[in-house]
Amino acid sequence: MIVLGIETSCDETAVAVVEDRRVRSNLIASQTDLHARFGGVVPELASRAHVEALNPLLDRALEEAGCRFSDLEGVAVTVGPGLVGALLVGISAAKAVAYATGAPLIGVNHLEGHIWANFLEHGPPEPPYVCLVVSGGHTMLVHMPEEHRYEVLGQTVDDAAGEAFDKIARCLGRGFPGGPALDALAREGDPNAIAFPRAMADSGDYDFSLSGLKTAVLRYVRAETEAGRTVNPADLAASFQEAVVDVQVAKTIRAALEKGVRTILLGGGVVANTRLRERISAEGAAAGLRVLYPSLELCTDNAAMIACAGASRLARGERTGFDVEADPGLELA
Ligand code: KG4
Ligand code: ZN
Repeated sequence: MIVLGIETSCDETAVAVVEDRRVRSNLIASQTDLHARFGGVVPELASRAHVEALNPLLDRALEEAGCRFSDLEGVAVTVGPGLVGALLVGISAAKAVAYATGAPLIGVNHLEGHIWANFLEHGPPEPPYVCLVVSGGHTMLVHMPEEHRYEVLGQTVDDAAGEAFDKIARCLGRGFPGGPALDALAREGDPNAIAFPRAMADSGDYDFSLSGLKTAVLRYVRAETEAGRTVNPADLAASFQEAVVDVQVAKTIRAALEKGVRTILLGGGVVANTRLRERISAEGAAAGLRVLYPSLELCTDNAAMIACAGASRLARGERTGFDVEADPGLELA
């Protein structure tokens, strides 16, 4: 089945063509430069940039995939969660393509897309799974007893992991988005240099809290500066990253063991993090668990993951009506 995927939930305009879980084209027009000088995503600018980028990207995605509109057997689009105006652009385009070609429309939850990015490359192992979804907007642990069924085990009570990376990077003057910059910086630093708090590590539940850690890092920087000492940015980045990764790895593995699940799936932009990939692979294997994560370009926002999740729903006979609307707070269920 040849399925078109469209993703415009935040600041990347993305279009992909996927055929039976094989990526035929996967294009992204990033708006990073547009938002960088504001230190974060400006919703109105994002919507407008999506409008400008989408049509040419659609043409190029089909061309690279070597197919025409008439070859499409499904149109998958992100319907939430995300920025309402941004989502609307992708949804309108998807409806137009579906209407004009007669291919069925399927709305996809962005977070489901992040999880399904794994199946583009690995093929689905047998469920059940425990999924750690960590992105700029979300940090959650999900139990997936079967395909397309989700039970949220826990989530962040304040900031998302990616958001914390972005805020600390901004404080260190490392630009936006901050995740990749801190990841690179941390490789030169000592993860044990500064003892930052491991919030909710022993809370006994599957929730996360990151705002305390963020405050601790900012307070440390201020105190050192006021004392006339220079902060080693690599040590700071490595120590902060280690505090985040410590809790995420421990809770994810505990969730898998407590749920009696053998396979862990990771999804979302923060899964591009070198240290997270390294530690969860090693510690998961030591606990006898299989750990899967997408390749780097499929961790951050893309449309191939949306097409992949959508294709699976279409194959089950699911369809989305043309009256579907953007749902900025859409829950994973
Ligand atoms: O999934 P994503 O592309 O967009 C959302 O759905 O939010 O995730 C973007 C987030 C950003 O906060 C970015 O800083 C973070 O993922 N990120 C990383 C890395 N690469 C991207 N965080 C830590 N380490 C990385 N290597
Ligand atoms: Zn995302």
